[in-house]
Amino acid sequence: MPARLSIFPLCLLLWLSGAVSAQGDPERESLAAQASNLLSYIAVDYADSVREGEVRDQCLYEQQRRNLARVLELVRQLPDRPGRAALERSVLELDGAIAEKRDAVQVRRRANAAADRVAQLYQLQRSPARMLPAAGEARALYQKRCAACHGARGEGGAQGPALDDAARMASFSLYDIYNTLDPIADSVHSAAVDRDLSSRQRWALAVTVAHLAVAGAEPPAAELAERYPALVGLPGMATARPVELPRDGAAALLWWRGNPDRVRALEHPLARVDGLLQLAEAAYRAGDSTTAYYRVMLAYRRGYLPRRAALQQRDPPLAAQLAGHWESLREGILGNAPEARVMAAFQQLRAGLVKARTRLEPVADDRPLHFWAALLFATALGLGLVLWLGLRRSRR
Ligand code: HEC
Repeated sequence: MPARLSIFPLCLLLWLSGAVSAQGDPERESLAAQASNLLSYIAVDYADSVREGEVRDQCLYEQQRRNLARVLELVRQLPDRPGRAALERSVLELDGAIAEKRDAVQVRRRANAAADRVAQLYQLQRSPARMLPAAGEARALYQKRCAACHGARGEGGAQGPALDDAARMASFSLYDIYNTLDPIADSVHSAAVDRDLSSRQRWALAVTVAHLAVAGAEPPAAELAERYPALVGLPGMATARPVELPRDGAAALLWWRGNPDRVRALEHPLARVDGLLQLAEAAYRAGDSTTAYYRVMLAYRRGYLPRRAALQQRDPPLAAQLAGHWESLREGILGNAPEARVMAAFQQLRAGLVKARTRLEPVADDRPLHFWAALLFATALGLGLVLWLGLRRSRR
């Protein structure tokens, strides 16, 4: 990072970016996205500006304080709803912690917690509705739009920081990376870089960037997927920050999110259903029942239907119960049922799916049983052969 500071006039750049972001008059949702973006930058950069209670980089420190003042302004502009007062308080507490030059880990956690709270309260979509694209999908786009500043392999250059530094990238969630490519939420990149990118392209670029830090690295041990099931699927893979995880989980997440196409096989199909239902629930709570309905149906067709027959075989009563839950959720959304009833239907369905997941786990005894059957068969075959040979010999 100090190397990076010397490469380009960061101070001027940051000052300009602050000035630009203060000018626009974007819509409400983008106010929340901007606040979340600024908070995650503070989380990542604070350790570079303050160390052991002392300011090491005055310019960066001042910029962070200005950015936080901007966050407070943004939060106050956001529509009032239950939880906003607490959010405002947590931003003020964060400001206090930075003013007192507190410990970096503490500040990072507070800043990230505030970023997450903004996202939850204002239903920012922090995870793509469908699966993440493979790292290769945006490789050409990266070379065309990004490599001039960040280097062909993310090694950095005179005009942009390195993106292949695993330690720094571990502080960002995939969504945080995605957000740096949002022309409204982020003002570091000029409009020429990201103005016309679709959401799908930005997710694909986020994955391509995430891949740079683990290019050539070995995949993590398969059992880690069982230890951290929420991280091999969405939304966990997009919203979790490696730096907040135990060491093995952090290393695994860095690799998984840079290689989502190779992780797909590790994910239980019903985990995908739950990810989609979470998104549906968020859309419903935000008052968008059309999107909610669409996602529920996607979860049903893409995730649940392919596993229904297996569940039917293992646990018919549970399968019947789930059929009822899907139906009442569908009817509730379509028929504009009272919100409490729809939320209850979401909860019932998700709880039922958790049960179904354990029912669909491979039965532990299956394999030994096959093994013994095969051994028995082989022994019988061998014995038969010996007997037959013996008989032939005795006949001669
Ligand atoms: C004109 C040069 C330039 C181009 C082109 C460019 N960037 Fe950047 N990028 C920067 C600068 C400068 C920063 C900000 C450094 C800071 O303030 O931390 C940055 C920051 C980032 C960050 C945050 C990294 C960090 O450590 O803070 C990501 C991720 C990123 N860029 C990705 C991309 C992607 C993907 C593209 C292509 C779509 C792209 N950039 C195109 C110059 C550029």
